[in-house]
Amino acid sequence: MGAYLFMKSVMLALSQIPESKQVLLKQLTEDLDTQSLSWLSGYFAGLASRAPTGQTAQKIASVAPAVAAAPRPLTVLYGSQTGNAKRVAEALYEQLRSTGLAARIVRADRYTTRELKDEQLLYVVISTQGDGEAPDDAIGLVEFLHSRRAPKLPSLNYAVLGLGDSSYPDFCGIARRIDERLAELGATRIHDLGTADLDIDTIAKPWSQKALEQARAVLQQNDPQQPSASITPLHPKTGRFTREAPFEAELLLNQPITAPGSDKDIRHIELSLDGSQLTYQPGDALGIWPVQSDALVAEVLELLALDGEKPVSVNDIEHPLKVWLGSHRELTQLTRPFLQAHAERAKSAELSQLLQPDQSDSFRKFVSTHQLADVLRKYPAAWSAEELIQGLRPLAPRLYSIASSQSVVEDEVHLTVANIDYEFEGHSRSGAASGFLSRTAEGERVRIFVEENSRFRLPVDTSRDVIMIGPGTGVAPFRAFVQERANQGGKGRNWLFFGNPHFDSDFLYQTEWQAALRDGQLDRLDLAFSRDQEQKLYVQDRMLEHASDLFEWIQAGAYVYVCGDANRMAKDVHATLLRIAQQEGRLDPAQSKHWLDELATQGRYARDVY
Ligand SMILES: Cc1cc2nc3c(=O)[nH]c(=O)nc-3n(C[C@H](O)[C@H](O)[C@H](O)COP(=O)(O)OP(=O)(O)OC[C@H]3O[C@@H](n4cnc5c(N)ncnc54)[C@H](O)[C@@H]3O)c2cc1C
Ligand SMILES: NC(=O)c1ccc[n+]([C@@H]2O[C@H](COP(=O)([O-])OP(=O)(O)OC[C@H]3O[C@@H](n4cnc5c(N)ncnc54)[C@H](OP(=O)(O)O)[C@@H]3O)[C@@H](O)[C@H]2O)c1
Ligand SMILES: Cc1cc2nc3c(=O)[nH]c(=O)nc-3n(C[C@H](O)[C@H](O)[C@H](O)COP(=O)(O)O)c2cc1C
Repeated sequence: MGAYLFMKSVMLALSQIPESKQVLLKQLTEDLDTQSLSWLSGYFAGLASRAPTGQTAQKIASVAPAVAAAPRPLTVLYGSQTGNAKRVAEALYEQLRSTGLAARIVRADRYTTRELKDEQLLYVVISTQGDGEAPDDAIGLVEFLHSRRAPKLPSLNYAVLGLGDSSYPDFCGIARRIDERLAELGATRIHDLGTADLDIDTIAKPWSQKALEQARAVLQQNDPQQPSASITPLHPKTGRFTREAPFEAELLLNQPITAPGSDKDIRHIELSLDGSQLTYQPGDALGIWPVQSDALVAEVLELLALDGEKPVSVNDIEHPLKVWLGSHRELTQLTRPFLQAHAERAKSAELSQLLQPDQSDSFRKFVSTHQLADVLRKYPAAWSAEELIQGLRPLAPRLYSIASSQSVVEDEVHLTVANIDYEFEGHSRSGAASGFLSRTAEGERVRIFVEENSRFRLPVDTSRDVIMIGPGTGVAPFRAFVQERANQGGKGRNWLFFGNPHFDSDFLYQTEWQAALRDGQLDRLDLAFSRDQEQKLYVQDRMLEHASDLFEWIQAGAYVYVCGDANRMAKDVHATLLRIAQQEGRLDPAQSKHWLDELATQGRYARDVY
């Protein structure tokens, strides 16, 4: 009933707007994310509040340029691949607003770079990806800043907060380079670069607090008449349940979808959203708060000879030690600060050597293979319960691309999860979240939240074709896409590229794809089973085989999506798209790069890679 009344009021309101303006409105809002839409709603509300009742559209419009040309006192600009920098930026923005400062928040790819020279105060919050690369949404901004087109910025005040992982050689590399570049362009750094490791809040919270104080000082200095309120509205939340207040969802189905004998154990997981009012769209991810296995907690307690029942109080929060370890601390991922502290306790020259700056490759390999228990066994050292809890990184939720369309499965959400489960030096090890999900039985509860990903969206125009490239678990969002497109009943064609090691054991959702092909919901399916022949065969080999058709689809308006492994696959697929543009479109390397950048700018080349 609520939805009906809402739609009715939208229809009524729309009918009051001339048809030509409705078209413009649709164009303006088509690809915008919720935050931008929300900002626009505040902008229009601001215009409306300035106009006396009954004022004509023409008169209202005459107010617009004045509002648009108003100075931009404070912008929080973020670049984020998996939502961490976005969350930190949003928290900073909320803090600024709640103290009455007129701030706005903008995702990097929505930022008009020519606005830079008009900014008074700019806060950049950005993660580093790849090997020191920008997150996808900030590639254009970073390129612009380092290009010769970047303007001199003598009146800009700024500060940069980087998010990263100190086990990577180029820790917070992108933030460092932006920080240096803005100074080179003549801007004034008002606050030191912050470099947040995986325990993000340790650095991000004090940095944001300092940023808040500096903003007050700078803005008051520049403009004593600084308004005490902003018209920018709060961004809408996905629902009542959030990352910090997750929903306890019942697990409905936990089904292996790789066959026995496969090297992989991939699960199809179904969870109930019943009673949560959580909503999601194809392209979004689901956040999962894992619980560590009892066996792992017991192993850590035994290695340290600590009592799991002992109450431990950290920052005024008290739990028994085993609860801290089971639900609040990372045991499967190691951080540089913890290993530094442990090397000193263990007086281990070997571990200390690994932490030297010139050992970054060995260090990266070490942390990607060893878990906490492996380190405690190899390099024994004593920790008190309190020191251990303070030294370990707080547990972080893991994200999983949603593999269902809510318009089809309604009160459910589906995932495709690779269970990380391996032997290391004689001990069985598993991933915190994938292991947790894999051992969770039907009927048990899992703490979840929806992580919106407005950069990975199906075209609004259902007559557009889509090309989906998703090997391994990367196929997950494309199950959601195909379900959604079938439900929409549009004319656009769907083409899926999927790959995995073996046809016999690893063809994820085989019967569903075959049924979709039969029913015309999937128009083309190209498969690359990498280990079924002597030479490796990957999705990009199939793309090259069909380069002519692929280029033709894209030139005719198709959207291209890539999901899955960021380190190898996504880079190779990117290079293959450039190669196809050169080969089929007769473009030179610079032109093909421009072609792909343009597709990305239009939202027609989107990646969800991890
Ligand atoms: C936006 C997004 C979407 C994602 N979607 C999916 C999805 O649909 N399906 C999916 O399965 N995953 C997906 N992931 C990855 C997922 O979030 C986790 O990173 C993954 O499940 C590993 O988490 P874990 O807690 O099980 O392992 P962790 O506890 O984080 O890692 C345990 C140990 O295993 C190592 N390790 C990690 N991955 C592997 C691996 N593959 N093989 C061997 N060792 C490994 C780590 O280095 C560590 O030492 C997505 C990630 C993002 C950011
Ligand atoms: N941390 C790690 O050590 C680690 C290791 C593996 C995966 N992962 C992560 O786990 C995620 C899920 O893995 P998954 O098991 O679903 O799939 P996956 O490991 O990405 O494998 C899926 C398919 O992609 C193939 N592949 C390998 N390299 C490729 C490349 N350069 N280009 C195109 N295809 C390539 C694989 O072939 P082959 O395997 O036969 O080469 C396999 O057939 C990955 O996306 C990745 O982020 C992490
Ligand atoms: C594939 C991948 C590559 C990464 N590369 C780097 C890196 O080179 N340097 C770094 O400091 N952090 C690196 N990180 C860590 C991220 O920056 C860190 O997890 C950050 O919190 C992510 O923030 P976001 O969710 O806003 O993107 C990498 C993470 C992933 C998944």
